[in-house]
Amino acid sequence: MADPVRDWATDFDIFDTEYVNDPFTIWDDLRERCPVAHTDRYRGQWLPTTYEDVQAIARDVPHFSSMGVSVVPPPVEALEGGQVPLLPAGVPPISADPPEHTWTRRLLLPWFSPQRVESYEQGTRELCRRLINGVIEHGRADAAEQYAQQIPVRVIGKVLGVPEDMSDTFTGWVRDVLEFANIPERRKNGIMSLVAYFQSLIEERRGGDGDDLISVLLRSEVEGEPVPDGHILGTAALTLIAGVDTTWSAIGSALWHLATNPDDRRRLVAEPELMPTAIEELLRAYAPVTMGRLVMEDVEYNGCPMKAGERVLLSFPAANRDPKMFDEPDKVIIDREQNRHVAFGVGIHRCAGSNLARMELRVAVEEWLARIPEFDIEPGAEVTWAGGQVRGPRNVPVVFPRAHGA
Ligand code: HEM
Repeated sequence: MADPVRDWATDFDIFDTEYVNDPFTIWDDLRERCPVAHTDRYRGQWLPTTYEDVQAIARDVPHFSSMGVSVVPPPVEALEGGQVPLLPAGVPPISADPPEHTWTRRLLLPWFSPQRVESYEQGTRELCRRLINGVIEHGRADAAEQYAQQIPVRVIGKVLGVPEDMSDTFTGWVRDVLEFANIPERRKNGIMSLVAYFQSLIEERRGGDGDDLISVLLRSEVEGEPVPDGHILGTAALTLIAGVDTTWSAIGSALWHLATNPDDRRRLVAEPELMPTAIEELLRAYAPVTMGRLVMEDVEYNGCPMKAGERVLLSFPAANRDPKMFDEPDKVIIDREQNRHVAFGVGIHRCAGSNLARMELRVAVEEWLARIPEFDIEPGAEVTWAGGQVRGPRNVPVVFPRAHGA
């Protein structure tokens, strides 16, 4: 266990239980007295907490590189020439700077275009209904574990062309990489398992005519050359890592909010036309993702002496709660009109999967409310949260009137 935080301005740790459970109060305090906090932990990190600073640093690619996107730097002994040897090309495009970022992102974007995402919608709806059928007769469920967590991994599984019975295994690996990144053995286990699995898929699919992401990347060319295997491996691993925990956390937070705020829940059931603004507001208020950047050379940012090799943590969630940008930022207003939130990031790395994420979140909430419009947190049961790179509830035990499965 790490030492408890002494002072959030000079010694923060985003894995600290206090931050995981209530980062909002910490950001409010920091914005007042030290808007860009620092810690010596994890080989040195900075934490900007205002919308303006998060935007400015995200856009300053030359100084703040995506070679360090993880919020915990890999252990020094696990690195070879600055890279984790198991993933020699990193996990592009998220871990790449231009020019490599440009072509690796271009290869991935068509998979998440509005038209492609529409083609996944009916399947996602049927999946949600199937999951609800499994719990509705019991009158109680864990809305995070039995519902939210089960959806994105299966949708991404279709993109990757992997069997549904791998879902729990994938979820375990992704949790090891993101949620338990501060526990070196778990992180290593997650990366090794993912890499071994995708390496064998690449071999299996080479020369084939499949229409899954890996098969198509194996047949793709960039400037007349085949895409290197290291890039295919990294991009496949990223698709799973970026598409699973993030979206399940967003769905879980949305359901937790609706369980604990009956006025919003009833209004959304009565006025389903509010769904688009409600989804954006839930994304703003419970933005799950914080990203790292590597400081490339000593630089002074707003009076902060950032040293080469340190990391800056881009807390998109903190930016989304900045009172200078949003009126009453800590209030969820499901018909909020002005909402330029940055839950999906900003600049060249803005989320490539945002169309898919929005569709999954909307469909998951719509299907749940259609069958279970009234639900509350189970009295006496504990809601648990995960934090770090991706924040979201891990357990949301709810009770509701029993009904028959369809
Ligand atoms: C609610 C769910 C999601 C949230 C909040 C989210 C958030 C983000 C954020 C903040 C970034 C920016 C990273 C940076 O600046 O370093 C990002 C990038 C990315 N996301 Fe998402 N994401 C979500 C779902 C998804 C899904 C479903 C996919 C599909 C696989 C996906 C794929 C990606 C990819 C590939 C990138 C890298 C883009 C680039 O580097 O050019 N995300 N996401």
